[in-house]
Amino acid sequence: MKDLAWQLLQPALQQQGNGQALWLVDENITEQDIASITPAKNLQVISNRYDVYLALQKKGFKAALSDYDFSGFELSSFDVIYYRVSKEKAVVHHIINAAARYLKPQGELLLAGYKNEGIKTYVSKAAALLGCPADKQRGPQSTLLATLTREAIAADPLDDKNYTEFSTVVAGDLSFISKPGIFGWNKVDQGSVFLIDTLANYLGIFETLPEQVIDLGCGYGFLSVMAHQFLSADYLATDNNITAINACKQNFAKHKLSGEVLIDNCAEAISKQADLIICNPPFHQGFDIEGDLTRRFLQTCKRLLAPGGRGLFVVNSFIPLEKKAAPLFSSVETVASNKSFKVIALAL
Ligand SMILES: C[S@@+](CC[C@H](N)C(=O)[O-])C[C@H]1O[C@@H](n2cnc3c(N)ncnc32)[C@H](O)[C@@H]1O
Repeated sequence: MKDLAWQLLQPALQQQGNGQALWLVDENITEQDIASITPAKNLQVISNRYDVYLALQKKGFKAALSDYDFSGFELSSFDVIYYRVSKEKAVVHHIINAAARYLKPQGELLLAGYKNEGIKTYVSKAAALLGCPADKQRGPQSTLLATLTREAIAADPLDDKNYTEFSTVVAGDLSFISKPGIFGWNKVDQGSVFLIDTLANYLGIFETLPEQVIDLGCGYGFLSVMAHQFLSADYLATDNNITAINACKQNFAKHKLSGEVLIDNCAEAISKQADLIICNPPFHQGFDIEGDLTRRFLQTCKRLLAPGGRGLFVVNSFIPLEKKAAPLFSSVETVASNKSFKVIALAL
């Protein structure tokens, strides 16, 4: 599936002029999209995703990996900011608020997205904040590219849920450090709860309890911290989202887990094997459904499982994970299911 919103933004990025420019990119981009833009000295790029950051660097962009952290820039320093909106409203509001502070007077914010992502509302809110009308270019399938020129700041900042601050998520007796920009940042995912409940009963199948656990796609670290309550082991948690990694490190320290938290793309640089791999995999990577992230998570699980080890994956009931796992593992078993989720155990 092509990202038509990106296709509206792409020509503007490709033809940018000589002014200081900033491009904000999340996971909704492919390597081919990145390859379609020529790096320029005056263009800085920020991504919160490690794989995107590596692809940008490889292509020669002046790229930074951060939680859309603007604090290193001078106020009113950019002539233009390019942004294809993200899925999460708090992130989009954070970036629009930052544009108001970091664009020069008469600097331009280019926002692109689909109608069902709320692009029309984002554009009206940005226009109110930047004190300017929006110049709109409509694309196919209700996509929109708006150019907003910063005049006098005319409204209060948008509600970004205190984007730059960490907050707390409570789960029973435990509390977790989290923040906007992380998967399900202000709640506990019910699929992950189901995986933990299943794991507590499932441990009986191990002759020796697992000593090394990998938490694949760890988010703020819910699975590791919960498993640690009843399974004393060494935990390695990994995710490609720098924001998630920052929070997960804090949760490891807060809950005294032994192990490490590493940023990586599908754990590709990790070689430590594990007796147990726990995972609530992402559906797909932005618009790149072809890339089939679930399959890559399964392949990683196969590569990192120690002999006799088990992978435990939780997915929505309708996801055919078993079919994708079957060619990779000698045993693929649904060990628990309810009306929303199933937990699948994988063995080499
Ligand atoms: C469904 S969430 C699960 C989060 C967490 N384990 C939990 O239970 O709350 C999937 C996680 O996979 C991460 N992810 C997505 N693409 C990834 C990639 N290429 N490499 C590593 N992690 C990735 C996301 O950032 C997200 O944190």
